[in-house]
Amino acid sequence: MKLVITGNPGAGKHTSAKIVAEKLDAEIIDINNVAIDGDSIAKKTSHGLEVDVKKLARLLARMTKPRKHQIVVGHLAPYVIKPEGISMVAVLRRSPYELVKTLEKRGYNAEKRRENLASEILGVSLYDSVKTFGKRKVIEFDTTGRAPDQTAGEILRALRKRPKPAGIDWLTLVSERGDMQRFFEY
Ligand SMILES: Nc1ncnc2c1ncn2[C@@H]1O[C@H](COP(=O)(O)OP(=O)(O)OP(=O)(O)O)[C@@H](O)[C@H]1O
Ligand SMILES: [Mg+2]
Repeated sequence: MKLVITGNPGAGKHTSAKIVAEKLDAEIIDINNVAIDGDSIAKKTSHGLEVDVKKLARLLARMTKPRKHQIVVGHLAPYVIKPEGISMVAVLRRSPYELVKTLEKRGYNAEKRRENLASEILGVSLYDSVKTFGKRKVIEFDTTGRAPDQTAGEILRALRKRPKPAGIDWLTLVSERGDMQRFFEY
C-alpha cells in the first residue's frame, strides 16, 4: 500500500501521518527531508527554498519499495510523485480561520501567511493532486476542529472504504462572512 498525504503547510500532514504509520506499520517518506538530505534544493529565495523538482522526483522514485506499506508526506507531492502504484492521496484541508493561527504560531511573515491562506482557500493542493493522481484516488479530509488521531482514523477508514467526496469550499465560507479583503488584500 502506498499512501500520499499532502495539503497546505500547517494542515496537519506530518502529525496525522505519524499516527497512520504506527497503525499500519508503514514507512514514512518525508518529501522535505528527502529534498534536504538528497541535496535536491536548488537555491534559497525570499520565498523559501526553491526545489529542483526533477531531481527530487528521481530521488523519491528510487525509494519506492514494492510490497511495503509506505506513506509519502509533503505539500510538494503533486509535483514530485508519479501516480503509478499509489493507492490513495489524502489532501488535508483546514479552514483558513484555523490555519491562520497555526501559521502565526510558526512565525510565518504576513506575505507567506497570505500566500498560504490564499492557496488553501482556492484549494490549490486539491486541484493539483487531482491533476496528477486523478479524481478517483484523491480524497479530501477536513482537519478543522478535529484532533490528529481523529484525522488519522478517517484516513485509515478511507483506505478500507472510500468515503463520499467532502466538497470542501472555503471560498464560499470566506465570501459569505465578508472576509475576502482580510485574506486576499494587502
Ligand atoms: N486534525 C488534525 N490533524 C493533524 N494535525 C492537527 C490536527 N488538528 C490540529 N493539528 C495541529 O496542526 C499543527 C500543524 O500540523 P503539522 O505540522 O502536522 O502540519 P503539516 O501539514 O505537516 O505542515 P508542513 O507542510 O509545514 O510540514 C500541529 O500543531 C498539529 O498538532
Ligand atoms: Mg509538516
